[in-house]
Amino acid sequence: MVNLGTTYMGLKLKNPLIVGSSGLTNSVENIIEIEKNGAAAVVLKSLFEEQIIYAAHKTMMQDEVANAYPEADDYIRHYTRENDVSKYLTLIKQAKESVNIPVIASINCISGTEWISFAKYIEEAGADALELNVFVLPSDPEKSIEQNEAVYFDVVKEVLKVVNIPVALKISYYFSSLAQTVTKLSWTGIKGLVLFNRFFSPDIDIENFEIKTSNVFSTPSDLALSLRWIAMMSTHVKCDLAASTGVHSGKAMIKELLAGAQAVQVASVLYKKGFREIGSMIEELTGWMERKNFTSVDQFTGKMSIEEAKNPAAFERVQFMKHFSGIE
Ligand SMILES: Cc1cc2nc3c(=O)[nH]c(=O)nc-3n(C[C@H](O)[C@H](O)[C@H](O)COP(=O)(O)O)c2cc1C
Repeated sequence: MVNLGTTYMGLKLKNPLIVGSSGLTNSVENIIEIEKNGAAAVVLKSLFEEQIIYAAHKTMMQDEVANAYPEADDYIRHYTRENDVSKYLTLIKQAKESVNIPVIASINCISGTEWISFAKYIEEAGADALELNVFVLPSDPEKSIEQNEAVYFDVVKEVLKVVNIPVALKISYYFSSLAQTVTKLSWTGIKGLVLFNRFFSPDIDIENFEIKTSNVFSTPSDLALSLRWIAMMSTHVKCDLAASTGVHSGKAMIKELLAGAQAVQVASVLYKKGFREIGSMIEELTGWMERKNFTSVDQFTGKMSIEEAKNPAAFERVQFMKHFSGIE
């Protein structure tokens, strides 16, 4: 009998497959289905910092009372935020009542400012952990590397002051010195890093001169990016790693575990194939472990990380060379 259990950010998981934050994790009905199909944990759809702040400001402008009675400002701000958040807190509470797998809340944030107090409510609602989905597109030529990267450290510092549940950070690969930043982030007290988030990509409609989004869902070939960085970072970081982007099969999950991930997060494959794919991926992992005589996941986690692999240069090579590609 193989034991698929693993530990990710201090949470005991029955297997390494987590359903990642997306529209799929935004309802209790789906979360129940996700558990039924065998996933080990679920990350809820992100609560967006901007939405909350926008809603607070909109209400203030619409309400004349806010102008007449300055002290009402705070009340309205508080009320609106509470109202927005209350839906999210209800989702957490209902999910916790309905399933036994860990429920990880998620906040999409771009600053360590007024939204931070929400984190405490999320903990009180019963979330087992909190994933911070932080993304700063370093597109402002006036901003230095330090200014762009400070945001991540500020957010983590402020959130860790208010919650006791484990906190993970989900990031992109847009960093000037990715390896160093990932390593330093892992020292901040977070329990997990999710490598990497994937974003809607811009495209141009050449008939209508409009900007549109393309490739909302990943494909299996998108796996390589997270695979490379999980393999390169897994022995350097002081927290757990979860792989995200391009995990579409049991094989892809096995590769990420071999590279050193404690868990994988999946989204696109479930949009494309449905929740039943969770069971197929877990079956594939089980079958492979039996064939390879592994009885537990930790026997092979990190076996192909850059420190352990027989050909570590393959993870670092970025230029095409015949030796690595086999193509002239
Ligand atoms: C429709 C959709 C909505 C998503 N919403 C969120 C979100 O709210 N918060 C978040 O952190 N990631 C979100 N993601 C990103 C996924 O969690 C995941 O990181 C990304 O899609 C890469 O994984 P995949 O290749 O398995 O899809 C979303 C992805 C999709 C496709």
